[in-house]
Amino acid sequence: MDKFKVAVLGATGLVGQRFVKLLSDHPFFEVAALTASSRSAGKRYCEATKWMLGSGFPEAVRDMKVLESSPEAVKGCGYNIDIVFSALPSSTARELEPAFASSGFNVVTNASALRMFDDIPLIVPEVNSNHMKLIEHQRRRRGWRGLIVTNPNCSTCILTLTLKPIMDVAGIEAVHVTTLQAVSGAGFSGVTSMAILDNAIPFIANEEEKMQTETLKILGTLEGETIKQADISVSASCNRVCVLDGHLECVFLKTRRPVSPEEVKEALKSFKGLPQELKLPLAPTSPVIVKDEVDRPQPRLDRDEGKGMSVVVGRLRSGRDGWLKYVVLGNNVVRGAAGNAILIGEVMAKSWLSD
Ligand SMILES: NC(=O)c1ccc[n+]([C@@H]2O[C@H](COP(=O)([O-])OP(=O)(O)OC[C@H]3O[C@@H](n4cnc5c(N)ncnc54)[C@H](OP(=O)(O)O)[C@@H]3O)[C@@H](O)[C@H]2O)c1
Repeated sequence: MDKFKVAVLGATGLVGQRFVKLLSDHPFFEVAALTASSRSAGKRYCEATKWMLGSGFPEAVRDMKVLESSPEAVKGCGYNIDIVFSALPSSTARELEPAFASSGFNVVTNASALRMFDDIPLIVPEVNSNHMKLIEHQRRRRGWRGLIVTNPNCSTCILTLTLKPIMDVAGIEAVHVTTLQAVSGAGFSGVTSMAILDNAIPFIANEEEKMQTETLKILGTLEGETIKQADISVSASCNRVCVLDGHLECVFLKTRRPVSPEEVKEALKSFKGLPQELKLPLAPTSPVIVKDEVDRPQPRLDRDEGKGMSVVVGRLRSGRDGWLKYVVLGNNVVRGAAGNAILIGEVMAKSWLSD
């Protein structure tokens, strides 16, 4: 099979590097263009990038010239690009990604700018792949030849993978969540070492709002050309902690019907979605892994489960007044960012292959 050609926007950043690494040797995709800011454009990828992922710099892109992040520059790369994966900052994405879609590119993005628009799918492939149907409406309404699909906020992505199976067995009335989020979630120059070493910071701009709104859209129901938001009361409290990769979330949850921790554990363990059904390359065998050890999950020990695509649940127990409590850990830069976006791309590619 000829591989689909892909571009990565914002390829020099933390999420961009994850894209490049996960896409090297990918069975469906081949990186044909890399972009970043005008500071990096024109340089070789290895010169423009402060590589943060240890050994294994992908040789195929070492000497690739970094392009400006514009549709014209990507069109000029010499290949027909099938998917554009974006890791641009949100402020840049707001203008640029619609310009890409309008020029005919299929964009899958990590940026938050467009996530909550009615006609833009916000996807966790195991949870709500059926929301991709919004694309037909999006293209008609906006007159785009291309399209935009969005990836959720990292903490939300991790959380919804555990909420969906519980919602399916018992319904959910309310969720309270407290996060302990890794520094990589803030991007390459997001949190300085002087701010975070020996410290924890009880504020992450806009994070609580994103968790509270995006969760309801992802768990919502597709009704015609819109998503009816889930009827769940979600309250989040977000903290930055001195961990490199891996967001830990303490979840307190009230179901609509009484349910035992054992029943919830079974629902989490047996949860599968479209990526598993289609046996997609990046689909973990188990999207949710449940650990019985009293002191797990932990970021350093558990963030690479399922190659970073599984989330890990532990400390599942009953709380007071019928509430359930558990802790979930997910790899914010893989499942919470580049990995989830590539999985969305794999769902799209699989549908093109079967057309
Ligand atoms: N980190 C996470 O865990 C995570 C999770 C989910 C979503 N996200 C989202 O993913 C996106 C990327 O995050 P990140 O952590 O990778 O950020 P980052 O490390 O700061 O990287 C930003 C990238 O965008 C490029 N860029 C910056 N300004 C630009 C401009 N004006 N025009 C074109 N390109 C520009 C940078 O290029 P230069 O190197 O040339 O400056 C770099 O390649 C953000 O929207 C973020 O909110 C991040």
